[in-house]
This record gives sequence, C-alpha cells and structure tokens, in this order.
Amino acid sequence: MNGKKAAGIKALDEIREGMTIGLGTGSTVYFFLEALAEKVAAGFTITGVATSQQTIDLAKKWKIPMRTLNEVSTIDVTIDGADEFDPQLNGIKGGGGALLFEKLVAKSSKKRIWIVDERKKVEQLGRFPLPVEVVPFGWKHVESFLVNKGYNPKLRLTADERPYVTDAHHYILDLHLQTISDPEALANELDHLTGVVEHGLFLGMTEKVLVGAPNGTVETF
Ligand code: 5RP
Repeated sequence: MNGKKAAGIKALDEIREGMTIGLGTGSTVYFFLEALAEKVAAGFTITGVATSQQTIDLAKKWKIPMRTLNEVSTIDVTIDGADEFDPQLNGIKGGGGALLFEKLVAKSSKKRIWIVDERKKVEQLGRFPLPVEVVPFGWKHVESFLVNKGYNPKLRLTADERPYVTDAHHYILDLHLQTISDPEALANELDHLTGVVEHGLFLGMTEKVLVGAPNGTVETF
C-alpha cells in the first residue's frame, strides 16, 4: 500500500448509490477510479463526470458510466487530487495540467474531497510551481508580465521539448514562487490578467482532504 492508494480507496466511503460523481485527474485519482470500477462491476449505479481526457480514457477502460459536465445539472461529490494543501484547506492543483476542467467541475459540485499522500501537506503554499493556463496567442507577453512581477514563470514542456498543450488547447506557465504569502491577492491578480484562462490556486474549494500514509492509514482534514 502507498499513501495515494490508501487515500483513493478511502474516498469510496463518500460515494452512495445513484450519485453523480466528479472524477478528478492524476495518479491518486487512478486508485479511486480502480476501486470505483470494482463497485460498478458488482452492480453499483453511479454516473461519473471526468475532468480530463486521461480520466475519460480510464473510465471507458473500466466501464464507469459517464456524462459530460453539460449533461448533468449538478454533481453530488467530486473526488480529486491536489499538489499541495495548507491548514486552511487551500491548495495548488494542476500539476497534471487539468486545472481548468477540474475547477469547472469543482465549482459545479455540492461537495469536494481531495485525496493526497502525506507529501502534499504544507504550512504555506508555493513550493510546488503554480500552474497558470494561458491562451497560446501572445503568451510570451503574459510571460513577460509575470517575469516583471518576479513570479519566475516557466513554459511547461513535453518530454520532446514542445509546449505542453492542455485538453482545452492552451499552454501552461508554471510559476516558481517558493512561497505564496497572500494566496487570495495572487489569485485575484491572476483572475484579472488578460490571456490567463485559469490558475491552479483552489481557495475555499474543498470541504475535506483525505491524506494517506504509506502504512495504509488515512487522516482526515
Ligand atoms: C491534475 C491535478 C492533480 O490532481 C494533481 O496534480 C495531483 O496529482 P497526483 O495525484 O498524480 O499527485 O491537479 O491537474
């Protein structure tokens, strides 16, 4: 057992028959989907709403019934991963590049639960680079603005050194900040920056965090 798997399996306790469930993205969500698929195979009825193509592909492979976000009126609960979370349950997401769809699904959800391992728990956000999703048109000008602000942006690249392209066909600038002393102020600034589609600061956007440890125990925050 590793911490991610422990948290992923524990999240099944949050699921009830008939629910519409937001399905996050990433290696921790993988374990949740695997466990959910077993329940579905045993006759448990749910509907999933995916936050990325990666999750759609896994759900299809494991025969989890799916709808798009537009096809549902609300989501009962969303289970997603996170890259960091602090004592106020604010977080950074988007390490896997799915921040835009993850935020849209989170905003449409009655309840949001993050599943993480112990390494994601921090006192202050910012050590993990903050993803900022930008439109490709003129992205270098957004980058220059962020450089001038001292935010140390780096264009996310693929293994073969091409710009990483999100499911919504945007680029990502990762801000290497080390610490974020005022997450609300930074979120507000990025929310109003032309060319920025979304950013990975998820503030007040989770009700519960399940933190898995390597020994298989799960702590709730
Ligand atoms: C993807 C995300 C993921 O939830 C986040 O990166 C955590 O991933 P993992 O569970 O693989 O550590 O925000 O955009």
